[in-house]
Amino acid sequence: MNTNDIDNLKRAAAARAVDFVEPGMRLGLGTGSTANHFVELLGDRVRAGLAVTAVASSEATQALAQKLGMTLSTLDETPQLDLTVDGADEVAPDLALIKGGGGALLREKIVASASARMVVIADDSKLVDVLGRFPLPIEVVPFGLKATCGHIERVVAEAGCPGPLHLRHGRDGHPFVTDGGHLIVDAALERIPDPLSLAARLAEIPGVVEHGLFVGIAASAIIASAAGIKVLQHK
Ligand code: A5P
Repeated sequence: MNTNDIDNLKRAAAARAVDFVEPGMRLGLGTGSTANHFVELLGDRVRAGLAVTAVASSEATQALAQKLGMTLSTLDETPQLDLTVDGADEVAPDLALIKGGGGALLREKIVASASARMVVIADDSKLVDVLGRFPLPIEVVPFGLKATCGHIERVVAEAGCPGPLHLRHGRDGHPFVTDGGHLIVDAALERIPDPLSLAARLAEIPGVVEHGLFVGIAASAIIASAAGIKVLQHK
């Protein structure tokens, strides 16, 4: 499957998610190429008269939504959202996710957690039996980076998924800096046997701001494949 086909699947999943949107909803907008499709398609509906209020999970999504003329809010003004629609890097059968490939995991998790419902949209290449093939993004503060990485290494080893850590760099060759001014360490873990317990252990590390394991957050996932669309529900 080429990039174009995958992009069509992302758009198809996003189009189905637009059906979940009702007038007056307070929406969380995700980040990334799949979420961008959703924002664009939602923009069409807004131009056609649909009234919704949206909170963006990144500066990039904020800029796109603004360009499309959406009514935007913040979590300070609108702390409770009805629905967040976002992409993912990996989706497990129980709808545990890896997110943060685009570097927006902190705001994405805050926005999703402020929502009554999170719906994931993805092409079927994101579906996995076990999370971990996609390197797990971990957002850290710059201060004490080496010490924090040492701590993360010990925790992932104890969790049964040792793997090298790589400080993420941007296209300019400099360390990638998140919207919150933090760094991202990508942990190549290959196979995470117990995402819930690893999530809890990572969250305890001083210097770790957030990690890309979203466990028990997504309510449904809209997965588009060449065979059609299926909607997975969290059990
Ligand atoms: C952004 O930080 C991520 O969590 C994205 O949702 C994830 O990387 C999926 O991105 P794509 O939709 O571009 O594949």
